[in-house]
Amino acid sequence: MQTRVVGIEGLSEAVALLARGDVVAFPTETVYGLGADGLNETACRRIFGIKGRPADNPLILHVSGLSGLAQVASGALPDMAVRLAEKFWPGPLTVVVVAHDRVPAVVRGGLPTVAVRAPGHPVALDLIEALGRPVAAPSANRSGRPSPTRAEDVMADLGGAIPLVVDAGPCLWGVESTVVDVTVFPPVLLRPGALPREDIEAVTGPLALAGQDTVARAPGMKYRHYSPKAPVIWLKTEDPGAVKAIAADIPGRLAWLAPGGVLKALSANSDVTRSLGESSLQAAQRLFAGLRELDAMRPDAIVVVWESMEGLGLAICNRLAKASSQVIEP
Ligand code: TXA
Ligand code: MG
Repeated sequence: MQTRVVGIEGLSEAVALLARGDVVAFPTETVYGLGADGLNETACRRIFGIKGRPADNPLILHVSGLSGLAQVASGALPDMAVRLAEKFWPGPLTVVVVAHDRVPAVVRGGLPTVAVRAPGHPVALDLIEALGRPVAAPSANRSGRPSPTRAEDVMADLGGAIPLVVDAGPCLWGVESTVVDVTVFPPVLLRPGALPREDIEAVTGPLALAGQDTVARAPGMKYRHYSPKAPVIWLKTEDPGAVKAIAADIPGRLAWLAPGGVLKALSANSDVTRSLGESSLQAAQRLFAGLRELDAMRPDAIVVVWESMEGLGLAICNRLAKASSQVIEP
């Protein structure tokens, strides 16, 4: 199959493809998504085949707002879902609610619940509104690979496997939405993401954290994720002296993904580098693209330097924990 990359002028074509049960890649404010009609079971099943995604890893339904959520949730909406949606939608927050019968089991990964968000990207919202139905969409990468933040990343993974990519430039946040389970109290942070935990807790009070003994995780979080071909070594310090000392002990031809200030201090012994910039927003925007670009240079390992867990830093640390085969903490 030939994959065509179109600008936003191709939106009506994307809608037509979705309406007839096909899949298309489209931009959101977090990462690019691989979309299908979220109420069409056959169409949603194709997403799993194209991505190589395990069937027990459910999809997120993208809606245009609270009324869309009400259509895919069972019964009255939880008060917490309404408060969160009113405050943060459209935006990078996904809520998990009990699913209405009309949501195909394949979308839910067989669970009784469904994950839903209203994306903050105008192209994504236009697509949902023009289709008039929820759009099921995971990130538009092959399963296990870094998420795509640019149309070219989608093409690298899925070129030839899907008919259309709508290209609207690089994504604003660069990491996926924050996923919160509001079927329980206190709500559970299933996946840290572009909306900082601190902002959510200002509305909900303290969140429970997934992965802490009894609390279930988002099914997707148990799989190897976000990984380039080269092994990733996560260096959990931003102190240039410590980074330099540790770097001297790592063998092989290394590629570096690090904050701008750290790269400066390293310039003597670094060959292949990409900057994570000067802020956690820049780091989030550049993380996945940086991993992909450095991987293309075929290093023996990619060393990522990152420490902050505040704001967007928590999502960055979560992705690095999953992408890396080794964590070095001085
Ligand atoms: O920003 C995003 O969320 C992007 C864009 C395209 O919207 N989408 C995305 O989808 O990251 P995906 O499929 O890569 O990640 C969805 C996450 C997975 O960890 C999955 O296990 C979890 O949400 N999830 C989905 N449905 C769930 C449910 N019913 N219960 C618990 N976790 C669920
Ligand atoms: Mg994903």
